[in-house]
Amino acid sequence: MLAAMGRSVKISVWVALAVVACTKPATPLPAPSPAELAGLGQPRAGLAPAQLQAFARGKQQFQRAYTPAEGLGPHYNQTACSNCHDQPNLGGGSDMSHKVLVIFDPPTFDGTVGQITLPGFAPPAPSAKAIKVFNRPPPLYGLGLFETIPEAELRASCDPTDKDGDGVTGHLNRQGEPTVGRFGFRGHAQTLQKFVGNALQGEMGIANMGTDCSVTQVDGDKVPDPEVPYSVVEDLVAYVGGLAPPPRDGDHPAGRKVFDALGCGSCHRPETAKGVPAFTDLCLHHMGPQFDTKAKDIEAQGDEFRSAPLWGLRFRKAYFHDDRASELGQAIEMHGGEAERAAGKYRALSVQDKSDLLRFLRTL
Ligand code: HEC
Ligand code: HEC
Repeated sequence: MLAAMGRSVKISVWVALAVVACTKPATPLPAPSPAELAGLGQPRAGLAPAQLQAFARGKQQFQRAYTPAEGLGPHYNQTACSNCHDQPNLGGGSDMSHKVLVIFDPPTFDGTVGQITLPGFAPPAPSAKAIKVFNRPPPLYGLGLFETIPEAELRASCDPTDKDGDGVTGHLNRQGEPTVGRFGFRGHAQTLQKFVGNALQGEMGIANMGTDCSVTQVDGDKVPDPEVPYSVVEDLVAYVGGLAPPPRDGDHPAGRKVFDALGCGSCHRPETAKGVPAFTDLCLHHMGPQFDTKAKDIEAQGDEFRSAPLWGLRFRKAYFHDDRASELGQAIEMHGGEAERAAGKYRALSVQDKSDLLRFLRTL
């Protein structure tokens, strides 16, 4: 009797282990070490002393929490940049709980961002036709390097007429304008300065001169505009633009081979001519009906998104602009539209090749 009981206990332990083993992903995400985490958010190598000083000032500004008396609002989402950009540490992204709603109102599709309204002011009033889009705050490490890529190089790598015949086209946002778009999930902002100026106003309601030095934003609260001097925008740009990209964690050549064979690099261009290893071409690509927001964003159609940079993937818990995938393999399988062919090839891979690819992606 005792022996039988002992045995049945053993079996149930074994069954439990088996269940755990089956639900584990093929290649468990190695937890980043404390030393690796500390390495994220450092300034890029080679910044001049004045740039390092501006980086340090911008880092303070990035964590500054504004009050209504200092200009916060009348519409805002958070009081400080760092409330949304602090995962896994300062300068990073954020999780689902901070996902930000943007309301695109046709026919212009101008986006409304700030959803919290100070007492005594009218809340945003989108029309019945307005489209809601949720975005997660992305990590900002390495972004300044995107500004160093010559525009001609970007245009050539987008391959709008599919000259190389790989079935993938792409284009930049604001193609017809003097400066093309590089920042934002849909490439709507041309420069970090414009993005930061808009973020200060849109996310925090701090009117500034970042979007265009000759124009002061007017936000209608009781604090005179601009609510911060231009130097605040400059310092924030020095901080964000000075952040080093996530460091690589070794290499996995077998996985890189799979990456190349699947054609992932048609959009996730491994590096720029000058060797910036961001694994993005910064171009907009059709991602298919599952990604169609139905909201046009300047020249981006509803399902067009900028190829996500693939550096720093091992620090992330969810993927895509709205965190819709919680596992790396799942994220690859969800690619549709012009990336459908690559996703199909991924599904058909052997277990070994899949595992090699995922391991490679986690070294980036
Ligand atoms: C309420 C959350 C929130 C706050 C506060 C916030 N951001 Fe963001 N940030 C986002 C989201 C969401 C995006 C993605 C939006 C998009 O791409 O259209 C983003 C994107 C960015 C990007 C572009 C990233 C890229 O890959 O191109 C920059 C730069 C940036 N934020 C800087 C800042 C700065 C500087 C501040 C403070 C002035 C700030 N953000 C405050 C949520 C926030
Ligand atoms: C046709 C262009 C295209 C191809 C081909 C493509 N991707 Fe992507 N990929 C994208 C775009 C665009 C996004 C961002 C979409 C979004 O944010 O919603 C993305 C996002 C990702 C993400 C999520 C990154 C993040 O920051 O959340 C991963 C991982 C990824 N791709 C891996 C791959 C791999 C591996 C392949 C090859 C099997 C591949 N992609 C092929 C366009 C492409």
